[in-house]
Amino acid sequence: MSNDIVLVGAGCMGAALLPGLFKGFQKSRILVVDSSSSQRKKIAAMGVDVSSSIGDVSGGATIVLALPPDRFAEFASSTSVLSGHPGLVISVMAGVRIATIEHALQVCNVVRAIPNTPAEIFKSMTVFCAAASISFFCLELAERVFSLIGETVRVENEELMDPATAICGGGPAYLSYFAECMRCFAVDHGFNDAQSAFIVGQVFRGTGSLLSVGDRRPMQLCREVMTPGGTTARAVDVLERNNFKGVVGDALLKATTHSQSLGYRVEEAENGRSYR
Ligand SMILES: NC(=O)c1ccc[n+]([C@@H]2O[C@H](COP(=O)([O-])OP(=O)(O)OC[C@H]3O[C@@H](n4cnc5c(N)ncnc54)[C@H](OP(=O)(O)O)[C@@H]3O)[C@@H](O)[C@H]2O)c1
Repeated sequence: MSNDIVLVGAGCMGAALLPGLFKGFQKSRILVVDSSSSQRKKIAAMGVDVSSSIGDVSGGATIVLALPPDRFAEFASSTSVLSGHPGLVISVMAGVRIATIEHALQVCNVVRAIPNTPAEIFKSMTVFCAAASISFFCLELAERVFSLIGETVRVENEELMDPATAICGGGPAYLSYFAECMRCFAVDHGFNDAQSAFIVGQVFRGTGSLLSVGDRRPMQLCREVMTPGGTTARAVDVLERNNFKGVVGDALLKATTHSQSLGYRVEEAENGRSYR
């Protein structure tokens, strides 16, 4: 791929996209725009061009918006160079709707995506939704970009992007949280820190691999470990008595509704700006 890439926002998520972009866009110019000077310094040390503002953008460039949703209105109001941009505009911002981006930046080939941080090692799960009016070329390009960082699922219904944000964007955090709980238990019960991290890490790697081969559902894998009346069954019984499934559902619902409300807030800020 030879189009220029402009990545706006290179924090945790933006920076995790870079290895994939390097892999797929070796012949392209990659420009990282970030308002944080320390972040710019870190990225420049990788040999990438950095800037604090977007500057001129060639028509064929792919723009990747990875700035925080609550900074988008400010970004949109400070730049007009994207107005009428014919190239692909990918947003990984939680909550921000395609129509809001089209309206704020005056662009048409928008794809709203939720990748996750395993993108850093090419193992992202990216759920994406494309603008109804997107060109075939831009849609294909977006699919190729996402496949550089891992696996993809395209949805037609944009409403699904909010639960996708909860499940997919936040997923690595919940699993890491669970891993940390197990690691702490291991340390409390006599393993040293390195052993605990290694054991828990391998449990997650092994189970993740098992989940990804064949067609066994998670609960089937769970049952296969639970000898009736055995040790694991006792542990799962504690989870069930404490409504663990309900707690996870509540947590995901909270993240989903927050994604929706972020979208409304950005839309309101954007509408306020257009009527001022
Ligand atoms: N983290 C995840 O796992 C994840 C997953 C899926 C989607 N996302 C989405 O990805 C986006 C970024 O999240 P993050 O976790 O990477 O946030 P982050 O670590 O806070 O990074 C955001 C970066 O964008 C910079 N920035 C802010 N306003 C800017 C502007 N106007 N122009 C250029 N750069 C600007 C920030 O600089 P300052 O420090 O100066 O503010 C910061 O370096 C969010 O919209 C989030 O919803 C994140």
